[in-house]
Amino acid sequence: MLLAIETSCDETGVALFSEEGTLVEDFLYSQVALHSPYGGIVPEIASRKQLEVLHPLVKRALEERALKPYDLKGVAVTFGPGLLGSLLVGVTYAKTLSLALKIPLIAVDHLSAHLFSIFLEREVSFPYLGLLVSGGHTALFVVQDFDSLKLIGHTRDDAAGEAFDKIAKLLGLPYPGGPVISELAEKGDPEKYPLPRPMLEEENFDFSFSGLKTAVFQLLKREGNLRNEDLCASFQKALCEVLVEKTLRAARVLGIKRIVVAGGVSANTYLRGLFQERAQEEEIFFPHPKYCTDNAAMVGFLGWIKFKKKDFASLDAEPYSRA
Ligand code: KG4
Ligand code: ZN
Repeated sequence: MLLAIETSCDETGVALFSEEGTLVEDFLYSQVALHSPYGGIVPEIASRKQLEVLHPLVKRALEERALKPYDLKGVAVTFGPGLLGSLLVGVTYAKTLSLALKIPLIAVDHLSAHLFSIFLEREVSFPYLGLLVSGGHTALFVVQDFDSLKLIGHTRDDAAGEAFDKIAKLLGLPYPGGPVISELAEKGDPEKYPLPRPMLEEENFDFSFSGLKTAVFQLLKREGNLRNEDLCASFQKALCEVLVEKTLRAARVLGIKRIVVAGGVSANTYLRGLFQERAQEEEIFFPHPKYCTDNAAMVGFLGWIKFKKKDFASLDAEPYSRA
């Protein structure tokens, strides 16, 4: 049995993955309620909570399957990118287990784990275009294999999830903004407010969302009393159109027919619908919503791939905050 740990941000994830490659247990402790009053994640609170929650969660996962620590054959953990304080909790815990139980330590990259999270449910043939849209990242990759990702574009400022979170804060809505905005948007008119589609016409695969945030801010300042539902619907449509159109263009330019959308924002219902509506020859894949946001199951999957290849990390390896 392999143990997988995810502590890159504000979620504590623990999963058990069999050596045959099946997900056996998957536990998640979300700190969302702790950070919500602050309108965003407070790193100090996040790391302290990780420390408090991780060991009990691992114990619970093992007990659930009547396993002892000595039954573990390897430990996979997210090394980065993320909040360094949070990452250190998971990485130090995993290194300790690796040393004490004499089992291999497997370093998993968080962005790669998101991009392969679809494999928890089904296989997708390589190469595919991977759009990663999360709170910290918005990037397009050509995914050639489990260890070969080519970055072809990324956001020049805010990430897509960050834009959702910032707009929510502006409207006095709780963190995380994505689910709340998406729910309000369902009752709103997406054509009500004309908002910019940043970088849509540019001949590259990069994104930019800070201008969209500023446009919403100015609209609020100018018009004051707006209907939140209409504003959320207009904002969501503008942001999703840019993601969908630029990704489809990249797929057509590169001649790639399969697209995997991953990361927290890929849980968005409107984004999913828009991709399906605008795709022509392209096949679009979305992980189950519970695997879109941070989780240890995806760390377990990539950990298992690396375990099979004996791609192990040294105890000297350091977690990293940036990609
Ligand atoms: O992947 P994730 O859990 O963490 C990072 O690695 O960043 O993504 C979290 C982000 C947050 O910004 C959150 O607002 C956004 O994903 N998100 C959504 C939805 N659910 C989560 N954005 C739009 N619509 C959603 N339904
Ligand atoms: Zn993530």
